[in-house]
Amino acid sequence: MTKQQQLDELKADILEKNICPELAAQATQLVMGDGNLDADIVFIGEAPGKKEDELGLPFMGASGKFLNEMLVQAGLQRSDVYITNVVKYRPPKNRDPSKAEKQAFLPYLLRQLEIINPKVVITLGRHSMEYFLPGAVIGDIHGQPHDIQIDGVDWKIIPLYHPAAALYNGSLRQTLIDDFVRIPKMIAT
Ligand code: URA
Repeated sequence: MTKQQQLDELKADILEKNICPELAAQATQLVMGDGNLDADIVFIGEAPGKKEDELGLPFMGASGKFLNEMLVQAGLQRSDVYITNVVKYRPPKNRDPSKAEKQAFLPYLLRQLEIINPKVVITLGRHSMEYFLPGAVIGDIHGQPHDIQIDGVDWKIIPLYHPAAALYNGSLRQTLIDDFVRIPKMIAT
């Protein structure tokens, strides 16, 4: 089976098992992810917003525009990487996803990562970071690679600030850009 077929199967499984029915009922669609299925880098955000819900693709609004700009600064393009979210339906009014919602989607996120099998997983913001690095404080560890194991599988995790948090905050914005431009070097090692 190709990676695309495996991801299609995963999507069908989420729909069939009716994961987070309350979120599903008010969302336009499930937003699985987008990008290169052979990418070295997978980015994981929080959950789709309004634009993402409309288009069925992750990071298409203001945060997505900023993410694209930072990718370019790092010498990368969206088509080089794969982008997804922990929670795959838009929460109403863009509220934070609940613990139960994140928990419900985690097995699917892990399976998605196993299918794509990137060299490095980059978490954007605390919702994706807390699963891989529980208890970590983003201000202390952002931009630093961490080698971890989940269910016997090794992962290299780089936690970064969420683009939405950094977009309108001058110093955080620069910190995030600085971390981004170091990504290619971190992957090379
Ligand atoms: N913020 C996220 O975390 N994910 C998106 O897809 C868009 C905005």
